[in-house]
Order: sequence, then structure tokens, then C-alpha cells
Amino acid sequence: MNYEELANKYKRMGFEVPSADMIKTKEEIEGIREAGRINSLVLDEVAKMIKPGISTEDINDVVHKKTLELGGIPAPLNYEGFPKSVCTSINDAVCHGIPSKKDILKNGDIINVDCTTIYNGYYGDASRMFLIGTVDDDAKKLVEVTKEALDLCVKEIKPFAHLRDIGFIIEKYVKKYGFSVVHEVGGHGVGKEFHEDPFVYHFGKKGTGMVLFPGMTFTIEPMVNEGDRHIFLDADNNWTIYTDDGSRSAQWEYTLVMTEEGLEILSK
Ligand code: MF3
Ligand code: CO
Ligand code: CO
Repeated sequence: MNYEELANKYKRMGFEVPSADMIKTKEEIEGIREAGRINSLVLDEVAKMIKPGISTEDINDVVHKKTLELGGIPAPLNYEGFPKSVCTSINDAVCHGIPSKKDILKNGDIINVDCTTIYNGYYGDASRMFLIGTVDDDAKKLVEVTKEALDLCVKEIKPFAHLRDIGFIIEKYVKKYGFSVVHEVGGHGVGKEFHEDPFVYHFGKKGTGMVLFPGMTFTIEPMVNEGDRHIFLDADNNWTIYTDDGSRSAQWEYTLVMTEEGLEILSK
């Protein structure tokens, strides 16, 4: 069945379907794949240098240099006024931490490094957690369970699943460990723009939301808190989000494409 036929079929069943522009062409998928590949190489470079004593500005420098060296553009820089080339979020920072010389990584910290690369006009977006030195068991568990929740989605979400199945899987999984999912920030479609539709919820009811068609490219990027799910926005920089209760937060992000078989990772 082609797009029109599939869309009509699922619409008749009463479901929301992706718009035609959410279904990428082969060529577009190859473009996003290349951007994703470059993006992962940048994260590999971060993995090599991250350790206690460095600043998040040092991470920014490495990301910026490596991205340019590979022929890419760091997407965060100047995106809606964001001042740096990467997001670095330590401990109770949920996301959108701004690299700074003043933020020195210390033993026991956990940090999310979120890289996005523009390559040939296409975006690749992924983030990883890093454990700095020796980290306590609770933080290790938080980081591990967050990744397991994302990996479980990759394994279980098949074509024609529903958008909210993603969040259902994530929230159910992390709740078992007493953790909570941030609701306000989600994943997103990705392609020739940084953030495209649909908004990818990390919580929700099974069997609801848009039907996921082959050819869709999007991120899943759950933010999981040790304590409760509530957050606040840094009033000084208007970017960084923190947990309300000061508990630590973890996040992993992949860029994915839905194929006829299931989800394929384009950047991790
Ligand atoms: N990379 C983030 C995401 O996963 C977005 C960061 S926007 C920035 O969607 F401006 F803070 F870089
Ligand atoms: Co993203
Ligand atoms: Co990202």
C-alpha cells in the first residue's frame, strides 16, 4: 500500500496519521543517516576526553572542533539564541545545560552530553550519559534504567504502532525502579529541521496517538528523574531545566528511522 492508501485505512479506523511530509524519501533518510553518523563520531570524541577536572566549556570546544573537522555544523550554536555548540547537563540539570568554564566535572557527577550535527542540510541528534570517576549506585541505576527504557522502545516499537506506545513503554519501565519521567520536554521529528513534528511523548496511554509509518524519522530522548517528575526553568539563562526537588536526572537520545521491520538507530 502507498502512503495515501495507508493513511486512508488508518483514518477510517479513527486514528491520527502522519502528514505526507513526515514520510521521508530514501534520499532524505540517507541524508539523515549521514548526519547521524557524523554526530555519533562527535560523541565518540567526547567519550575519549571526558573526565574529572575538565570544564563543560572543554567539552564544547571538542564538539565544536570535531564537528567542523568532519564537515558538519553544530546545530545548537545560535539555535533560538542558544549560545554554545552542545548541551551539557550535570546531575539535577535535566537538559539544555550551557557549557561554561566555571562548571568543572568532579568525581561522582553524572552528565548528559547532547550533540546535534547539521550535515549537508540534514540533522542528526543524540545524547549520552557519562559517569565521572566513581559514581554512587543510585546514580548508576538511574543512568542504566533510562538507557534500558530507550532500548526497550527500539526493540518493541514496530511500524503501525502508536506514538503514545513509546511513552507508555518508557514510563512503565522506569516507574518499576521508583523513577519518574519528565513530561514537558519530548522527542521530535528530525530531518531538514532540528525539531519537526510529531512531538514524541515519553509518557502516555498504549494504543493512542499517531500511527507510526515506515519512513518516519524522529528522536526518542527520555529524561528520567531520581525523584519526582517536576521541573523548573533557569530564570537567568532561560534555557537550562532542573529537577524541582534537586534529585538527579538522566537522559539518552537516539535519532531513529522507522523501517518496514522496526526502528533503526541513525545516531546514538
Ligand atoms: N538537542 C536537543 C534535543 O534533543 C535540543 C537542544 S536545543 C539547544 O532536542 F538549543 F539547546 F541546543
Ligand atoms: Co532531540
Ligand atoms: Co538532542
